[in-house]
Amino acid sequence: MQKKMRIRVAIDGPAAAGKSTVAKRLAKMLSFVYIDTGAMYRALTLEVLKENIPLDDEEKILALLKKTSIELKQQEGEQLVFVNGEDVTAKIRENDVSKAVSHVAKLPSIREEMVKRQRELAENVNVIMDGRDIGTNVIPDAEVKVFLIASVEERAKRRYEENVKKGIPSDLETLKKEIAERDKRDMEREHAPLERASDAVAIDTTNLTIDDVVEKILTLINQVRDQQL
Ligand code: DC
Repeated sequence: MQKKMRIRVAIDGPAAAGKSTVAKRLAKMLSFVYIDTGAMYRALTLEVLKENIPLDDEEKILALLKKTSIELKQQEGEQLVFVNGEDVTAKIRENDVSKAVSHVAKLPSIREEMVKRQRELAENVNVIMDGRDIGTNVIPDAEVKVFLIASVEERAKRRYEENVKKGIPSDLETLKKEIAERDKRDMEREHAPLERASDAVAIDTTNLTIDDVVEKILTLINQVRDQQL
């Protein structure tokens, strides 16, 4: 029987470590499906805020998620995010969502439902998936697993520059504080915390360019491809 050729790439790491930039670039180069799992938690959080549901009301948030469709569509190299058919790509990056999302993402039943959806999206396709628990929990048997890290200072600087480019007002010191707080909540939560899978390759991107990181991950993917041939 012919061996099934499939490559699933899991990219995990803390906030603003460059995961999505690198993942998008790789997906485009390789024509793989890109799944930004953080965008799914953000999309739900946007709805939670809209409905004025307290961030710790797990039951209500789960009920909301069950009736909420979250779609990720690739269009001309960009990933668009739709909630119940509405394009929320820009809205889910706004500050109120960024601040609230880790509270929603720590709720166990929410994670369970999201992971179920994420596994369905990754079924039978070549995929690049980025998040916090992809290599440990969503696709623990991924063919390639990477854990990106970078100093808090560097990550805040990148986010700041990104915001400036998008015309979103922001302050570097506040960003630093917010990123550190978000890391802490993501790492300390009980259910599927942010941690490196023991078999994930750690890449410190602090002093690397995007191209350097992409190159390193491509090498890992090519190694798997060679083994599959
Ligand atoms: O990567 P991001 O900043 O868009 O992620 C938003 C939030 O969602 C962040 O607090 C971490 C959380 N998250 C998660 O818990 N698990 C994932 N697989 C992806 C994101």
